[in-house]
Amino acid sequence: MSDVKIVEGIAQDYVNKALRLSYDAFAKKFRLGFRDAHDLTRLFGDSVDATSCFSATVDGRFAGILTFRSGSREFYGLSLVALFSRFTPVRALRMLGNLLLLSEGVGPHEFIVETLAVDPKFRGLGVGTALMHEAEAKARALDKRTMSLGVITENHGAIRLYERLGYTTTKTWDSFLVRLVSGSTAVHRMEKSLGSE
Ligand SMILES: CC(C)(COP(=O)(O)OP(=O)(O)OC[C@H]1O[C@@H](n2cnc3c(N)ncnc32)[C@H](O)[C@@H]1OP(=O)(O)O)[C@@H](O)C(=O)NCCC(=O)NCCS
Repeated sequence: MSDVKIVEGIAQDYVNKALRLSYDAFAKKFRLGFRDAHDLTRLFGDSVDATSCFSATVDGRFAGILTFRSGSREFYGLSLVALFSRFTPVRALRMLGNLLLLSEGVGPHEFIVETLAVDPKFRGLGVGTALMHEAEAKARALDKRTMSLGVITENHGAIRLYERLGYTTTKTWDSFLVRLVSGSTAVHRMEKSLGSE
């Protein structure tokens, strides 16, 4: 039986690994948004910190990451200045489009799971489920009413996991532009009410 442990925050030694895993998760969702893992590191490097993530270990080895945001309009703690100073205008605009899409309609009472990614070596052991449970506990402690996340149609495994945890699709974006930007058939917002348990 594997020993799955979740902690709030992340040890410094694991940050690069976590960013690479997050990149793999995001690359699926935003085909055109990021060129490589380095892009993601430049963009989100500052946001993987003790105040915005949970990390997982299995038998003492880093296994997965969940990053979150709780109810502010800021996405990944990013400012426009940071976005446009780190990327060319075209790439910055493309990323902004993606980020705005996922932020649309997000209210102050929502707890948003931005990234969930488990190392392929440790999948199927309950790490993703354990990270989601910790995120929900945190959201309840912060008096949030709703959990919210974005997922693409093709990510059947993740959708099954979220449905098993009680999430339902509340919005679907499937316009030509969204398909082009996401590289998927559609992007879905899935939500779970925290008042129902
Ligand atoms: C989605 C993801 C986070 C799930 O993590 P996980 O630690 O494998 O999750 P769990 O073990 O708690 O449950 C995983 C589900 O996948 C199944 N599974 C079993 N072995 C698996 C494997 N080797 N790989 C993937 N899924 C597996 C489990 O049976 C379970 O499904 P169930 O509903 O049938 O029980 C992980 O597959 C992942 O990192 N995927 C790539 C990134 C990604 O897509 N993130 C989500 C973006 S929205």
